[in-house]
Amino acid sequence: MQKEETIAAAATYVRNLLSGEGSGHDWWHILRVWNNAKSIAAQEDADRYVVELAALLHDIGDHKFHNGDETVGPRMAREWMEQHAVDEDTVQHVCQIIRDLSFKGAGTSSAMATLEGRVVQDADRLDAIGAIGIARTFAYGGHKSREMYNPGIKPVLHDSFEAYKNNTAPTVNHFYEKLLLLKDRMHTETAKELAQQRHQYMEEFLEQFYAEWDGKR
Ligand code: ADP
Ligand code: NI
Repeated sequence: MQKEETIAAAATYVRNLLSGEGSGHDWWHILRVWNNAKSIAAQEDADRYVVELAALLHDIGDHKFHNGDETVGPRMAREWMEQHAVDEDTVQHVCQIIRDLSFKGAGTSSAMATLEGRVVQDADRLDAIGAIGIARTFAYGGHKSREMYNPGIKPVLHDSFEAYKNNTAPTVNHFYEKLLLLKDRMHTETAKELAQQRHQYMEEFLEQFYAEWDGKR
């Protein structure tokens, strides 16, 4: 199969698999990441085939929905790509990106081995910040039955994936534990610029949120 056809088939597969997901990893998240990834890849001169496949397949076996088993995603991606005759170099590259992608806590590293990995990680992280990021975060908090905000529970910067993953803090804390850290962790110049504006928007949201909380606005 030609590359364009394989990409279209991957999009159809993922759309069917994730449609109606309500916890932040729905098809629309994938579509936004795919679009972000395509425009960053074009600016950064990255391999479009690897970037697009990794963007499309990056959340199909998300660890949070498979009892913490991080091998599910890459395994499902490999199986799909092998069934669609994707060459082994590409399969390995895409699976490595999917494995390395996820944010694992403030004190953990987010190194990506290749330009294509950096592009996909930036694209995924752009969708975790700004207006969309705010919406996804509260949707996730609701899905997990978390308090929206609790002035008595202070944010913690987690230095291990275990601690980060298992925390049940109120949703607003997640801004300090992850969202506000992302702009300084963008790899590409293209994403850094976009992140700046989205970051500013989150700062303004929080300011307004606290003012309303205290009945000051
Ligand atoms: P990614 O797809 O970037 O790896 P995650 O799987 O960590 O993101 O999270 C998916 C969505 O859920 C993101 O928008 C993220 O900010 C949000 N989320 C993850 N953990 C929490 C949490 N503890 N509280 C609120 N939102 C969260
Ligand atoms: Ni994602």
